[in-house]
Amino acid sequence: MTPPGEAPGRALPLLPTRGLVLFPKMLAPLFVGRGRSVRAVERAFGEQSPLVLSAQREPGVEDPGPDDIWPVGTKARVLHLSRLPDGSMKVLVEGEERVRIVRYEATEPCFLVTAAPLSRQRRPTARTRSLARRVRDVFARYVDLHPQLPDEAQDVVQQTEDPDEVADIVAAHLQVGDEEKQALLAMESTEQRLVALLESLAEEIAALDLEQEIGRKVQERIERGQRQALLREQLRVIRDEIGEAGGGEDDDEGYRGRLAALALSPAARALAERALRRLSELPSLSSEVAVVRGHLDTLLGLPWGRLAPSEVDVAAVARHLERTHHGLRDVKDRILEYLAVCRLRGADQPATILCLAGPPGTGKSSVAQSIAEALGRPFVRVALGGVRDEAEIRGHRRTYVGAMPGRIIDGLLKAGVDNPVVLLDELDKLGSDWHGDPAAALMEVLDPAHNHAFRDAYLECEYDLSRVFFIATVNDVDAVPATLYDRLEVIHLSGYTLTEKLAIARRHLLPRVARDSGLRPGDVRYGRGALARLIRGYTREAGVRELERCLRRVARKVARRHLESGLALPVTVTVADLADYLGPAPWED
Ligand SMILES: Nc1ncnc2c1ncn2[C@@H]1O[C@H](COP(=O)(O)OP(=O)(O)OP(=O)(O)O)[C@@H](O)[C@H]1O
Ligand SMILES: [Mg+2]
Repeated sequence: MTPPGEAPGRALPLLPTRGLVLFPKMLAPLFVGRGRSVRAVERAFGEQSPLVLSAQREPGVEDPGPDDIWPVGTKARVLHLSRLPDGSMKVLVEGEERVRIVRYEATEPCFLVTAAPLSRQRRPTARTRSLARRVRDVFARYVDLHPQLPDEAQDVVQQTEDPDEVADIVAAHLQVGDEEKQALLAMESTEQRLVALLESLAEEIAALDLEQEIGRKVQERIERGQRQALLREQLRVIRDEIGEAGGGEDDDEGYRGRLAALALSPAARALAERALRRLSELPSLSSEVAVVRGHLDTLLGLPWGRLAPSEVDVAAVARHLERTHHGLRDVKDRILEYLAVCRLRGADQPATILCLAGPPGTGKSSVAQSIAEALGRPFVRVALGGVRDEAEIRGHRRTYVGAMPGRIIDGLLKAGVDNPVVLLDELDKLGSDWHGDPAAALMEVLDPAHNHAFRDAYLECEYDLSRVFFIATVNDVDAVPATLYDRLEVIHLSGYTLTEKLAIARRHLLPRVARDSGLRPGDVRYGRGALARLIRGYTREAGVRELERCLRRVARKVARRHLESGLALPVTVTVADLADYLGPAPWED
């Protein structure tokens, strides 16, 4: 043996391998097809000399250079060679010893390298001997558990004494990735190799144990299922014999009646029929009953063509918006224009979705609700803020535990008609991550070319969304995904002036706040300048949300004082009283 570090003998041909890390003492058949590799084998075989096999770092590299090849490989002999008609060859090699490639002498016509044997322990120590024994024992258990390893593998290892050889043979048989094998091949210290092997073996055995355990459980479950099916069949025969109807059928009748009355699509009807059949087969205590019922309830709970009156009365909407919202001249005009177009298009969906954009508290959600009221259609709010999972829109497949339909289908369940006003609230807060892209799912919902056949994963059939009246709201138009933005007809609500806020407070907020606090409108009055002072000193906002909150706090205090200390109503809140009701003003007037 050439001592390491010293210039070794002549250069040897090198064969880069893919998907194979050859160890000493190991026999391996391989196909050689690449030109340089064929020439390397021919040279070694012709000269009756050994060659070096070393694995490629990336098996995908077709024409590897020295940097693509691991520096530690195995010197081997070609025992057998047969040429195939296409110029490639099949060879049988046997590993001899581990070597480190010291230098590449040539790359043409084949790789020629000088290689030095890896240093090895001359004489085994007590510690390596005992480690080797442990490896042999653990390996025996591994072979027992592993379906693909022949028992002979064990015999060979049992007969090997030398710790390094034990390591080579066990490593060769270990069914782990090439990277891990390469690491085991390149490790210099025998002790380290044996320890690493013990670790790998322990991990592999744990995985195999788990696999076996799962296999056993699956088997048990299948057997239990078959047993149950058999018992159910027997039960049915017994019931027939004694002339008793099966359980749960009253319930089925309820479903059947509803199914008959609804205008389900053929696909949905087939699904419902199947679910009903499943329900009658399942034992009533089975946990699957709830799952099947949940699906049926969703299928049969959808409106399936039921519609609210769909006439768009533009003048009625105008009157209602005027009643419920102060100001917003441009906004109201644009909404009415949009509705007029909808009306003229009749059943056709508008090409764009109405989108109200503006800072918080400027009335976006409440304008949308007013539109729904004026149209006489149910109003459903779908909060999109923080929705990251595509399944929130498109539904979870029913194989998931706790699966649910997506929010759109859920909205229709709540609305009870196919043409509700659905508010897609906070469209700009839509997220996305590895759970898929909810914005893309929403595109399908909004696209008139596709939404008559929207597929919800939970429902498992198509549903027609083409008659839904969608309205979206956003705070920040720039944050809306570009693809969605193209579909929107954006109307901006910019915020209110002090005068507008005063009018909104007097006409809309104060009466509502009083009612909500159990008072009569007019029970809480604001003296000269008090409301303006409240707005300037206690709120900083474009909208009126903070303002409404302050008015509520005042109203609640008034209500409580009225009950507890007999405060006489109506009360007039003056500028001087504000601090008493709301604490010191955060902002200078
Ligand atoms: N012009 C208005 N006339 C009457 N009330 C209004 C007007 N603008 C806003 N409001 C009232 O202000 C409150 C807040 O409005 P709303 O909840 O619609 O705000 P928003 O724009 O949806 O805010 P966010 O972006 O935070 O959702 C509601 O009670 C609403 O009725
Ligand atoms: Mg809102």
